[in-house]
Amino acid sequence: MTANATHTVSATAKPVITLAGVSKSFGATKVLTEINLDVRPGEVLVLIGASGSGKSTVLRIMAGLETADTGEVWVNEVPLHDARRAREIRGHVGMVFQQFNLFPHKTALGNVTLALIKARKMSPADARKRAMEALERVGLAERAEHYPSQLSGGQQQRVAIARALAVEPRIMFFDEATSALDPELVGEVTEVMRGLARDGMTMVVVTHEMGFARKTADRVVFMDKGVIAEQGEPEKIFVTPQNERTKQFLHRVLDH
Ligand SMILES: Nc1ncnc2c1ncn2[C@@H]1O[C@H](COP(=O)(O)OP(=O)(O)O)[C@@H](O)[C@H]1O
Ligand SMILES: [Mg+2]
Repeated sequence: MTANATHTVSATAKPVITLAGVSKSFGATKVLTEINLDVRPGEVLVLIGASGSGKSTVLRIMAGLETADTGEVWVNEVPLHDARRAREIRGHVGMVFQQFNLFPHKTALGNVTLALIKARKMSPADARKRAMEALERVGLAERAEHYPSQLSGGQQQRVAIARALAVEPRIMFFDEATSALDPELVGEVTEVMRGLARDGMTMVVVTHEMGFARKTADRVVFMDKGVIAEQGEPEKIFVTPQNERTKQFLHRVLDH
């Protein structure tokens, strides 16, 4: 068992995500080289590293949005490396991006409801009930009838999280979910993410918020030029990093 400030993770449980020998190129550019990574149920894994190091590509491969060139990718027991089966993962994972991508002409409730009617083929009444529960979970039940333009960036991102949560995913992926927000709005979004971690959600998070990584991650993975250069518990990575590149990266980001 490992325990951080919010929850515990069993070290013996079967991984919900396995990447084994995963490599990926775009054209002539190799962006991932032999990535091996397991994520356990309830684990919060945080990926850090410089821009272009391959973090988003790892996340997109785990979410079934991109396919690996070589290696095996298992998510929720679905072999994503098998193109015929890769689509089975859709609807079982939730993804939150830097851009919220809400429909401007739909209310917060309408945005979440639409996802359920489309992805889950739910009836409007059932979808509405489920959507309200999801909005409640991100603290926005009172804003259900507001349009995106009537919400702050932090609130819009919480609606996007509610939209992803509403389908009851087994795993949540966050790719720089707070990077487009004004600094004073970051906290309300990381607080929602921390709540999900407390509730036992399996999460893979790409972030530049080192405070979040340190406080909430079970494990921090430092990526450098398409490889995992170093990984470990947050205290180990942040206090006693071993790799020279990890030290340089942390020096850069923590200084600013
Ligand atoms: N669809 C794509 N086509 C071509 N190159 C890509 C594509 N997606 C990512 N890349 C390249 O792959 C490398 C890794 O990108 P990415 O995974 O987005 O890194 P990070 O998220 O760490 O910034 C970068 O050099 C990027 O330009
Ligand atoms: Mg990225």
